[in-house]
Amino acid sequence: MAEDLSIIQGNKAEQYTSLLPQIKALITGEPDQVANLANIAAALKEQFGWLWVGFYLVKGGELVLGPFQGPVACTRIRKGRGVCGTSWAQAATLVVPDVEKFPGHIACSSLSRSEIVVPLVKNGEVFGVLDVDSAELNEFDEVDRKFLEEIVSWIE
Ligand code: SME
Repeated sequence: MAEDLSIIQGNKAEQYTSLLPQIKALITGEPDQVANLANIAAALKEQFGWLWVGFYLVKGGELVLGPFQGPVACTRIRKGRGVCGTSWAQAATLVVPDVEKFPGHIACSSLSRSEIVVPLVKNGEVFGVLDVDSAELNEFDEVDRKFLEEIVSWIE
């Protein structure tokens, strides 16, 4: 497909519904994981304008920063630490309406107010996480969970 993204207005579900097939087309047939993670982060950031969208990948027993869009971020996160390390430890999506109320939240950016972290799972093992941060409180909900979980299920 052309490398232009069609950005739409509308409610969140409408935005995801427009974006998902475009993301699928971008990554289909491309075996390189870094290329695909980079385009997924860019597409989500472009459509939704969130503060930070990116991936951490499990390497040597830690989460290590991968492709992302947004301000510079912490490079390494241990299992069980912060929202990302907790999502990894629990192999579960975490929706955090107010990061200041999440014990152990790692503040990569002082502008971050709410966050969602979705684990990347293959054969029952977490191999990374998708982390999205917003400058607004209560940004993420079950709609984000559903669509972001669908997107990460495409990542090999
Ligand atoms: N806030 C995350 C750390 C990663 S940055 O937000 C990009 C956490 O608590 O795990």
